[in-house]
Amino acid sequence: MIAHSAVPLCAEPSHLPGRNPTPDVTAGVASIVILTKSEAFAPATVANLGVGFDILGLALREPGDIVRAELRDEPGVRVLGIEGDGGRLTHDPQKNTACIAATAVLQKIGTNHGVGLTVVKGLPVASGLGSSAASAVAAAVAVNALLGEPLRREELLAPSLEGEAAVSGYHADNVAPCLFGGITLVFGLQADQIVQLPVPEDLVLALVTPDVAVPTAEARAVLPQQVSLKTMVKQTAAVARLIDALHRGDLEAMAAAMEADTVVEPAREHLMPLMQAVRAAARRAGALSLVISGAGPTLCAVCDDLAVALRVADAMKAVYDDAGIGSVARATEVAPEGAQVLSATL
Ligand code: HSE
Repeated sequence: MIAHSAVPLCAEPSHLPGRNPTPDVTAGVASIVILTKSEAFAPATVANLGVGFDILGLALREPGDIVRAELRDEPGVRVLGIEGDGGRLTHDPQKNTACIAATAVLQKIGTNHGVGLTVVKGLPVASGLGSSAASAVAAAVAVNALLGEPLRREELLAPSLEGEAAVSGYHADNVAPCLFGGITLVFGLQADQIVQLPVPEDLVLALVTPDVAVPTAEARAVLPQQVSLKTMVKQTAAVARLIDALHRGDLEAMAAAMEADTVVEPAREHLMPLMQAVRAAARRAGALSLVISGAGPTLCAVCDDLAVALRVADAMKAVYDDAGIGSVARATEVAPEGAQVLSATL
């Protein structure tokens, strides 16, 4: 076993262009160190942060998906197993997000080695926690590790996006924080169009995921295709307030700006069971604000203290309990690191 366990691949925001001291590996396949097995973890993400539809996202410390990759004699990528998905995810390599990302990594490296993947889902599917992005990113990171890490972290962006796109289209607000960690602003699909923003020191998030699937495609289909100029001005101002609050480390201003979305949340609210009741309960328990996480149905409350966030998580879950809707609630922080290699075996 190589001493790769929990390698701090992203201990600092060094994976973005111009910040990575790792030299380019251009020597080609002949120089690649081939291992037999590798394993990578990729975290859950909260996309949009309320007002920043498709452009803002953050990585959570937990939960996340794990992908194990192993070398096979046959070329191509195949699924060896999927755990924790309740049988919902496809094993078809042309459609499975992890397989698509892994295949894109192999193509980028220029090798025709065969790889088998085992996907261990820590994230519920279609829950608004970036489940497909996490599987794609974990697969990309694991396969790159299997081949001795010939690609830099930023080079895994495009393969990961290909995997995610199979389920929810090309938008990088889950993949970017998942790969790079922290809070990310995404203004394009290239690595040099992603910026890491400061994370306010006391930020803790309380999340509740009700037992209802909201497929991203459905949650995107309900969105307005056009907004008025007045609405555009309001939304732009809210995003600007949010970015300013992050730079000043002003958690209260951050929380208020996140909740100022007048375009996406109102259009999606009917897909989120009991959203206003959960919001009211979260506020009573001490949350600063509450937004839909990604395309939902997970709801994300902004808190300034772990003890408060734990109380908020309980209060939000109680709303669903009272309505007879199963749910999972948790309190967690922003993960400064993105996906990590857990192990790599020669
Ligand atoms: N920005 C995306 C959305 C995230 O809200 O539809 C979900 O994948």
